[in-house]
Amino acid sequence: MPAIVVLGAQWGDEGKGKATDLLATTDPIDFVVRTSGGHNAGHTIVIDGEKYATHLLPSGILTPGATSVIANGVVVSPEALFRELDGLLARGVEVADLKVSANAHVIASYHATIDKVTERFLGKNQIGTTGRGIGPAYADKINRVGVRIADLFDEKILREKIDAALDVRNHLLTKVYNRRAIEVDAVVEELLSYADRLQPMVCDTSLLLNQALDAGQTVLFEGAQATMLDVDHGTYPFVTSSNPVAGGVCVGAGIGPTRIDRVIGVIKAYTTRVGSGPFPTELFDEDGIQLQTLGGEIGVSTGRTRRCGWYDAVVARYASRVNGLTEFFLTKLDILGAWEQIPVCVAYEIDGKRVEEMPMTQTEFHHAKPVYEFFDGWKSDISGCRSFDELPKNAQAYVQALEEMSGAKIWGVGVGPGREQTVVVHG
Ligand code: GDP
Ligand code: IMO
Ligand code: MG
Repeated sequence: MPAIVVLGAQWGDEGKGKATDLLATTDPIDFVVRTSGGHNAGHTIVIDGEKYATHLLPSGILTPGATSVIANGVVVSPEALFRELDGLLARGVEVADLKVSANAHVIASYHATIDKVTERFLGKNQIGTTGRGIGPAYADKINRVGVRIADLFDEKILREKIDAALDVRNHLLTKVYNRRAIEVDAVVEELLSYADRLQPMVCDTSLLLNQALDAGQTVLFEGAQATMLDVDHGTYPFVTSSNPVAGGVCVGAGIGPTRIDRVIGVIKAYTTRVGSGPFPTELFDEDGIQLQTLGGEIGVSTGRTRRCGWYDAVVARYASRVNGLTEFFLTKLDILGAWEQIPVCVAYEIDGKRVEEMPMTQTEFHHAKPVYEFFDGWKSDISGCRSFDELPKNAQAYVQALEEMSGAKIWGVGVGPGREQTVVVHG
């Protein structure tokens, strides 16, 4: 299976890091690639009880023998990149080979400044961004005033580009937001300071990946963010500024859609969301607090508490549709062992009507009330189970019911954070 996409099917934090790490260690994988987003991601990998968090780096950085790639669609903060690499090196981790696209756009410190100022200005309408400068960096890219990795190696060009990028930004900062202007010299100096260390990693990653696929090598595309955070297909405007859906992988890596063999949607056995925006199955009662506590639902990047709710099959079917999922990886089934009965949202009620599919407009989605079906719980600890047959009958029935209503088969189920805490359903 040469090209495999792993992506988030809900609002992020589904366990993409674990799924990527699992695939990268059970089958020989040659490349693990990030294609969108930046260090707004927070992916957790647990190996032999040791916990690692990756943000900008692909999780493959922990897989010896695999090459990690940050492709053109990613927005790269060199500061965050080296902080993360140094953090792993300081822990004695043998980090994998890393390649960075010459065409990837750069996040400088001013992007984070603008992100935070814009959020403050939005007041009660704020998105609840991670404050990492992701939106402003993608805005510069689309406005055609972005700085790319290749620009860091030519001081003259770099200065011209930053001059152009800061021209309008500084008017906004000083005249609208009442802030100090950002100095071009300081930004040039900041970015040049990373150039020497970065240069040996930089290459044409589209060429590299296409050649690898031509040679029959296996490439794993590790999604960041998720379907419902996609700027086109998510709950706009409460989204991130990139395309984390499967189609975004082609654009973000420079490979054609015909290259992709498997598209795996990672989905939790319940739902969480960080930041603002609609969330039909969100719980505001004891069950919500219990999901949050038992699931350890605290953001890896920002430390924010995640909003929690039951599994939403309408979201799952939507993710299956817009990504062309070939399968799901269902995570955190173990967390549901505390409930007598487990509600699952099978449809919405919108303004008195039952709706089975994602509504067309955001206004309708804001009005969506979950229609629940109830499943018997298993009231036991399943974290030691290693095969589908070992799962209690009610847990098996829950997985089978989700599979029937979600639009794609479930190839595996996570029963704990560890690499080995996995049950294969369809091998
Ligand atoms: P990502 O952003 O999609 O990679 O997910 P995060 O790392 O932000 O959040 C997922 C959390 O769930 C992490 O703490 C993982 O270690 C943990 N996790 C992943 N799969 C499972 C599972 O099957 N069971 C349990 N209990 N935890 C899991
Ligand atoms: P992983 O890869 C969960 C959310 C933010 C905010 C919105 C926009 O770990 O699943 P941004 O900083 O991207 O402009 O913020 O998107 N968000 C995430 N939520 N997991 C993530 O990544 C996220 N990355 C961004 O909370 O609501
Ligand atoms: Mg995360």
